[in-house]
Amino acid sequence: MNLDELMELKRKKDAVIFAHYYVDKEVQAIADYVGDSFFLAKKGTMVNEKNIIMAGVYFMGETMKILNPDKHVFLLEIEADCPMAHMVTVEEIENMRKLYDDLSVVCYVNSTAEIKAHSDYCCTSANVKKVISAIKEKNIFFVPDGNLGNNIKHLFPDKNIICHTGHCPVHNHVSLEEVKQLKEAHPNAPVYAHPECDPSIMGLVDVQGSTSGIIEEIGKSSSDEFIILTEEGILWELENRFSDKKFYFPEKMVCEGMKKVKIDDIISILKGEKEEIFVLDDVSIKAKRALDNMLAACNN
Ligand code: 13P
Ligand code: SF4
Repeated sequence: MNLDELMELKRKKDAVIFAHYYVDKEVQAIADYVGDSFFLAKKGTMVNEKNIIMAGVYFMGETMKILNPDKHVFLLEIEADCPMAHMVTVEEIENMRKLYDDLSVVCYVNSTAEIKAHSDYCCTSANVKKVISAIKEKNIFFVPDGNLGNNIKHLFPDKNIICHTGHCPVHNHVSLEEVKQLKEAHPNAPVYAHPECDPSIMGLVDVQGSTSGIIEEIGKSSSDEFIILTEEGILWELENRFSDKKFYFPEKMVCEGMKKVKIDDIISILKGEKEEIFVLDDVSIKAKRALDNMLAACNN
């Protein structure tokens, strides 16, 4: 099937394609919308098409389905998963609730529907500061990304932010030594990092941001070269937007889950060969509350 045929089939099937910056460039190139987790979740609630194709990892499709229960949501590859999403348990949340009367549970969007259902607020790296600012409770259990939580908690000295120890294996392996080496090799390049990276490297980082945040901030910079501490899939968008600039990455910034997302699966979905995804009603209703609370915090 050539590209024109694929686009025609997509139109006939009343489908829209969303993709995250970490998936293969061939997939990003044919998506209607490409963005960070927050953009994808928010934009997903604004489209008219009946069928949503989500090119990303499982929690992204699940989030899309929870926010759009009346639509058909398809993931390209059901096995494309984010390991961090499974690093916290419901039991850990329940135990923490027993310890504090005055507790709000904030789950990073990279979490399962069940964890969202047991949380008060959801957040992404793009809106975490807004979400925490909207919370009245003093004690906050931040799950599962301990790096993200620890990277922002100093901004809220009046809160007791207890961070879980989950982490992204891709971002977590970037070491202080590796960042130092990159800086030595490229002394004029500022360092832009995703906040899923370990707090121990942040002293060497110039700008922290979500994937969209990094792209946006590079657009405002007069530098010609940058050290980028996030998954390498973002390079395609960076080179498209800033063809005159150079980007340097640490070794092995590859998310296995995102790389399972392949263009052929879009064709299979459009041909009706793949099942849509479902989230159990009671889980979905409760998880939607945490997502709605996130969206409300960002609209204020
Ligand atoms: P963003 O929300 O910044 O796109 O990040 C999603 C993600 O999984 C990062 O590892
Ligand atoms: Fe999960 Fe990390 Fe992959 Fe993002 S890059 S989807 S946090 S494993």
